[in-house]
Amino acid sequence: MPQLCVIEGDGIGHEVIPVAVEVLETVLPDLDVQTAEAGWDCFERCGTSVPDSTLETLRNCGAGLFGAVSSPLRKVEGYQSAILCMRQELDLYANIRPVESRPFVSPREGVDMVIVRENTEGLYSRRERSDGETAVAEKVVTRKASRRIGEKAFRLATQLQRRKVTVVHKANVLGLSDGLFRDSVFAIGEELRKNGGQIELEEKLVDLAALQVATEPDRFDVIVTTNLYGDILSDVAAMWGGGLGLVPSLNLGDQVSVAEPVHGSAPDIAGRGVANPLAAVLSAEMLVRYVWSMTEPADRIKSAVCNTLSNWKALDPHHLTDEVRRSLIGALSQ
Ligand code: IPM
Ligand code: MN
Repeated sequence: MPQLCVIEGDGIGHEVIPVAVEVLETVLPDLDVQTAEAGWDCFERCGTSVPDSTLETLRNCGAGLFGAVSSPLRKVEGYQSAILCMRQELDLYANIRPVESRPFVSPREGVDMVIVRENTEGLYSRRERSDGETAVAEKVVTRKASRRIGEKAFRLATQLQRRKVTVVHKANVLGLSDGLFRDSVFAIGEELRKNGGQIELEEKLVDLAALQVATEPDRFDVIVTTNLYGDILSDVAAMWGGGLGLVPSLNLGDQVSVAEPVHGSAPDIAGRGVANPLAAVLSAEMLVRYVWSMTEPADRIKSAVCNTLSNWKALDPHHLTDEVRRSLIGALSQ
């Protein structure tokens, strides 16, 4: 039976993650659940946002479900965002963010894109320095990481029977860094085509891609892009999936993977029982489908989510978390 390391994190993580865990335990009664801590509260208590014991539990389990972390908007000495630390330490190199139209909550039908975000370098390299007058952030792009994410995007496209991969970059300005990213993905595309691969590869500059994600989202199938562009585009795209309350993600590595809703810790609504747990539930579903390769329980979760959405208007928004929980568990018990 699979093992799962559960980390609620901060804010609404304490409300949405227990719902996702209950859903998982309903479809996988033998799941071995362990808990660990990480985040801002953890930093304030123990001086680190991700204790070594948490990394060890994640490594042992091979799979994690993470809620959300609060982060100060300015630099705090010794603090780094827990999720960034996990991505680096555990080499969670691909961030898979599917956005699809969902009945009753999406502003339009027909959107079905997967954003594959490079998750370990780019402008997230944390090589930043300042003398007070000039601040410099280094954007690190390596051939190794770019090829690896390109391969992952094509593999996923094949697995999901997709037609097209779009590589999004800004190589017209960042010729060396984004240029290397672009060329590496194209090299992978070329190698696959020589071996009979059928998936089309196109490229798009990130500014136009952002406009089209916002206005013509059904143009996209699989998007592969660098870390920061992927971060931004996935929030823009989230609108088509019913908003941040519904968009899941999976930080994928070869040894360990951590599922995580795209939304943050939402301190403004934390503790009030109104957070939508569906993004966390759908993130858990990604673990079941992509990490544990259990299609049947993953499909059960998906259809329980559909069922809940079909009844969305009847749910009491003042007690949304529990209303969604009851609806999901009800649907799964039928
Ligand atoms: C995300 C988040 C993180 C990121 C933050 C919390 C550091 O926005 O997972 O998209 O920027 O990657
Ligand atoms: Mn983000």
